[in-house]
Amino acid sequence: MAWRLPLLAAAALILSGGVLQAGEKKSGFDFMAPETQAMQEDDLSNPGMLSIAEGEALWQARDNPAGTACAQCHGEARQSMRGAAIRYPQVDKQGGRLIDLQERINLCRQEKQSAAPFAYESPELLALTAYVAHQSRGQVIAPSQDAKLDRHRQNGQALFERRLGQLGLSCAACHDAAPGQRLGGSVIPQAHPTAYPLYRLEWQALGSLQRRLRNCLIGMRAEPFPYGAQEMIELEAYLMSRAKGLKIETPGVRP
Ligand code: HEC
Ligand code: HEC
Repeated sequence: MAWRLPLLAAAALILSGGVLQAGEKKSGFDFMAPETQAMQEDDLSNPGMLSIAEGEALWQARDNPAGTACAQCHGEARQSMRGAAIRYPQVDKQGGRLIDLQERINLCRQEKQSAAPFAYESPELLALTAYVAHQSRGQVIAPSQDAKLDRHRQNGQALFERRLGQLGLSCAACHDAAPGQRLGGSVIPQAHPTAYPLYRLEWQALGSLQRRLRNCLIGMRAEPFPYGAQEMIELEAYLMSRAKGLKIETPGVRP
C-alpha cells in the first residue's frame, strides 16, 4: 500500500527525529512480513525471476546494428558480471560522468552495439540490469574507493538530509530517525538499496531504485528528479556507501 502522508504524521516524524539509537544495518527485507520474505527467498515464487530469464535471453541476443551479443564480449555473466553490482555507481573512466549500473549497460548498448539506449524503466533495461545485478546475489556491497566519487557521495548525503517538498521532510527524518515505525500501512525501512531492480507488489512490476526514490519524493510532496538526473545517481551513490556490508538480493520483492 502507498503511504499517503497526513500532515499530522509528517509533524510527528519531524518531532521524532533522533529518537532511535543508531542500530545495526538492516535490509528492507528484514522489515517485511514473513509471507513476502518467503516469496523473495523462493526462486519459483519470486516474480522477479521472470525478468532474470528475460535478461539472460537479452544477454545472448544479436539483434542490434553491430550484431554483437553482450555474451560475445563478456562471456558467461555468472563469471564476468559477478561482483559488478556491488561497486556501482562509479565515475566513468572515459566520460568522467557519474554512472550507475543501468547507465553502464546503456553505454555498452550505444558504444559496443551501435544501438539506441534502452529507455528508463523499459522491460529490457530492467531485465538486463537485474540479470547483471543477480550475478552478485549474496555478495556484500563494497563501494568503489575512487576519490572522484567523494564529492558525489557528499552531494547525495546533503540531499538525503535536506528538507524537501511541501511537508518539510528530509529522507533522513524517516529513514535515519524513524525506521521500524509505521506510516499508514507501511513500515519505514532504513532505505538500503540492496535488492534493485526489484519486484514491488504495489507496482505489480519490476522497477529500478530511481523509481523507488521518485515514489518517496512524491510522498514528500517534492518535485521528483527526472530519471537519470545527476541528483538521482548521487543519492544512489550515497545510499550504496551507507549500505556497505549488506548483501545484494536482486531480484528483491517489496510490498
Ligand atoms: C515520510 C517518510 C519517508 C520519507 C521522507 C522518505 N521515505 Fe523512503 N520509504 C518510506 C517508506 C514507508 C518506505 C517503504 C515502502 C513503502 O511501503 O512505501 C520507503 C522506502 C524507501 C526505499 C526502499 C528500500 C528497500 O528496501 O527497497 C528507499 C531506497 C528509500 N525509501 C529512499 C528514500 C530517499 C532517498 C528519500 C528522500 C528523497 C526518502 N526515501 C524519503 C518512507 C519515507
Ligand atoms: C564489443 C564488446 C562489448 C559488448 C558487445 C558489450 N560490452 Fe559491456 N563492456 C565492454 C568493455 C570493453 C567494458 C569495459 C569498459 C569499457 O572499456 O568500455 C564493458 C563493461 C561493461 C560493464 C561494467 C562491468 C564492471 O565490472 O564494471 C557492464 C555491466 C557491461 N559491460 C554490460 C554489458 C551488457 C549488458 C551488454 C549487452 C547489452 C554489453 N556489455 C555489451 C565490452 C562490450
